Amino acid sequence: MAAMRDLQGSTQNVLRPGVVEFAFGEPDPALLPVALVRAAAVGALDRFGPGAISYGQEEGPPALREQIARRTAAREGRAVAADDVLVSGGNSQALDQALTVFSAPGDVVLVEAPTYSLALGIIRDYPVDVVGVPLDGQGLDVAALDDTMRRLRAEGRRARLLYTVPTFHNPAGVSLELGRRRRLLELARDHELIILEDDVYRELAYDGDAPPALWALDPAAPVVRLGSFSKTLAPGLRVGWIDARSDLRERLLACGMVESGGCVSQYAATVVARVLEDGGYDGHILELRAAYRARRDVLVAALREHLPAGCSFHEPAGGFFVWLALPAGLSATTLLPFAEARGVSFAPGARFRSDGDDRCLRLAFSLYEPQDLADGARRLGEAVRAALRAAP
Ligand SMILES: Cc1ncc(COP(=O)(O)O)c(C=O)c1O
Repeated sequence: MAAMRDLQGSTQNVLRPGVVEFAFGEPDPALLPVALVRAAAVGALDRFGPGAISYGQEEGPPALREQIARRTAAREGRAVAADDVLVSGGNSQALDQALTVFSAPGDVVLVEAPTYSLALGIIRDYPVDVVGVPLDGQGLDVAALDDTMRRLRAEGRRARLLYTVPTFHNPAGVSLELGRRRRLLELARDHELIILEDDVYRELAYDGDAPPALWALDPAAPVVRLGSFSKTLAPGLRVGWIDARSDLRERLLACGMVESGGCVSQYAATVVARVLEDGGYDGHILELRAAYRARRDVLVAALREHLPAGCSFHEPAGGFFVWLALPAGLSATTLLPFAEARGVSFAPGARFRSDGDDRCLRLAFSLYEPQDLADGARRLGEAVRAALRAAP
């Protein structure tokens, strides 16, 4: 099976022989650019000398911030200078830092329902109340968000933060429609609701360009955009960046952990700077897009062929995920043993929601080659039929 390579036991998720693990939403190790990173790892030491392995500036190495600012301005049409960019240790670290800085005990943190399960884990590390707001085929239901904020205010509670994945959502595979983006920004400005915009999949667009980032649409809005090199370069480098309004950026920099250690990923950040300076990054992204687009196409076609009536999903235009709604009465957790018995697995929907709703499941198409994805879809179709037959 394609993904069963010798990774010397060093990776976070352990694959089981003979099982198509649709649960794991990570880049295929076979697509990680080892040669590009090897050259940059040495190149960073040549170019920056001891600076590559010293405590770094809190904001991150200027060379990387310069590269990120240039790419962003060229691709997203919002003028941005190196001084406007903060380097992070990836979006998980940046989200944790944002919660440290911006949340207080008892605050409400709003999330999409469903939301990225591991972000939910990071948020739950803090003494805050998590409140879900529904999404549909056009992303977050912004009218429901408005209603939720009004209800909370009437109860004397305040929503201080919204964590959202507006572009190529994990797990739902949808993107927030442009009119809703604008309305969300209005609401955020009116209520000083800080939006934590997780933009990790922006570059993995398969049907034309990604929609504009919330951050790019409105410089005055309280948006903290989290960008990451995990999906486009290498998750093990642990490097990302933060774009935010200047007052929010200053608050993020005044975090004790950053003041103590300096840049959270100094050496890796200089390696990424070299990758971007060397010029192979854009070509690599084009290769990734082509590979993941082909996988998306095969999985979507195979699901259409093999799933019984009553199953439905939205075809994702980017990212790694298909969010599948099951026929009425069948929960993902009930289905799971039927699937595992047939050599296929997935992430049950309850993991992605604060209310435990389990009528959907998430399939990742990033880790396997097309033939494995097609086999997995066929096995899943058999599992759904078997679970429906067994239902009381
Ligand atoms: C929506 C989302 N945010 C963040 C992450 C993790 O990002 P990072 O590796 O930059 O911490 C992932 C990885 O699956 C993700 O899907």
